[in-house]
Amino acid sequence: MKYIKDLENLSEKRVLLRLDLNVPLKNGIILDPTRINKILPVINFLIKKKSKIIVISHIGRPKGKINEDLSLKPICENLEKKINQKVNLIKDDILKLKRDDLFNDSKEQIIFLENIRFYEEEELNDTNFSKHLSKLADIFVNDAFSCSHRAHASVNKITKFLPSYAGLQLETEIKALKKVTTEIKKPITCIIGGSKISTKIGIIKNFIPKFDNIIIVGGMANTILNYLGNPVGKSIKEDNCNSVIENIFETAKKYSCKIVYPVDVAVGKSFKDKSKIKELNEVNNDDYILDIGLKTINKIKDIIEGSETILWNGPAGYFENPSFALGSYEIAKKIVEKSKNNLIYSIAGGGDTIAVLNQINVINNFNFVSTAGGAFLEYLEGRELPGIKALN
Ligand code: 3PG
Ligand code: MG
Repeated sequence: MKYIKDLENLSEKRVLLRLDLNVPLKNGIILDPTRINKILPVINFLIKKKSKIIVISHIGRPKGKINEDLSLKPICENLEKKINQKVNLIKDDILKLKRDDLFNDSKEQIIFLENIRFYEEEELNDTNFSKHLSKLADIFVNDAFSCSHRAHASVNKITKFLPSYAGLQLETEIKALKKVTTEIKKPITCIIGGSKISTKIGIIKNFIPKFDNIIIVGGMANTILNYLGNPVGKSIKEDNCNSVIENIFETAKKYSCKIVYPVDVAVGKSFKDKSKIKELNEVNNDDYILDIGLKTINKIKDIIEGSETILWNGPAGYFENPSFALGSYEIAKKIVEKSKNNLIYSIAGGGDTIAVLNQINVINNFNFVSTAGGAFLEYLEGRELPGIKALN
């Protein structure tokens, strides 16, 4: 892998810089700027080197269609303030954009192309699209570790057409995660939550042989509760997962890994409701399960107490409503209490998990926090990430 930090002559070089600025947005307001803050080093590095920077990023999943709610505009404005420099958002059709259309103002140093997922070619890892993008620049830099599990044009295929380098944040993430995987101390507990059920269930299976406890919370847990015959009301859950879940339990037995899931829950009649703790069998047809209950919180705290390493990805509940953030906050506080006394090695990853840690101001009390969610899990699982493979 070649690193951008080692490159000498970058003056006037056009750098196509893939970043992950997929920050949580609500009505154009940035709810958590961590991902923007983390890429300031690479931006400042390239500014100092007098490069011409063309930023590529995505927000959300517009599925190849223009969606103004998912414009990079608020991110450009946020970055502009942080670096005290004009950042121009190019809204022109990328497919029609030519090299000579860019940087006509000699003072201009950093521009953004609009949300790359407005183009279906991005997720298709399209060769011609990648080739076209490559013509805009001289070199490519991937500083989006958190997108590197996606075989997309601006992450993977682009490297076929430009000399490609790892960015500063990507380098930091990989080095930290490599260290974690080689120096990990048992017992290891993985807390896994969030709503992306089908994507994570495979990962859980691969974690079983390596870990001592796997605690499943968040939306995913509903699928398990439902499988075990508990009512889950209107909660998010996934169908047709029975064989996957059976497989998880069987594999866990074989490797003596404990699978932990909620023993009680917090429900609401809507996402805006106040939390009400219920036993599993008390969940009504019109309830949404939106957090773990108090007994579950205590059970998880006991497991954290007995662990040497904690990996955490995905909140325990719908933390956007403070009434359903208790489970996530209590988990975070328990980990921090042990981390502060060096009694545990703690790693957290994922945009939502970071948002939880920021809400209670404990992000700096973890040993390592990855901006990546899916990529973080897949890396820990030992999978080769398409974006990383392409740089190697
Ligand atoms: C993330 O938020 O995990 C990354 O930005 C990747 O987004 P995706 O899961 O929509 O591919
Ligand atoms: Mg995400």
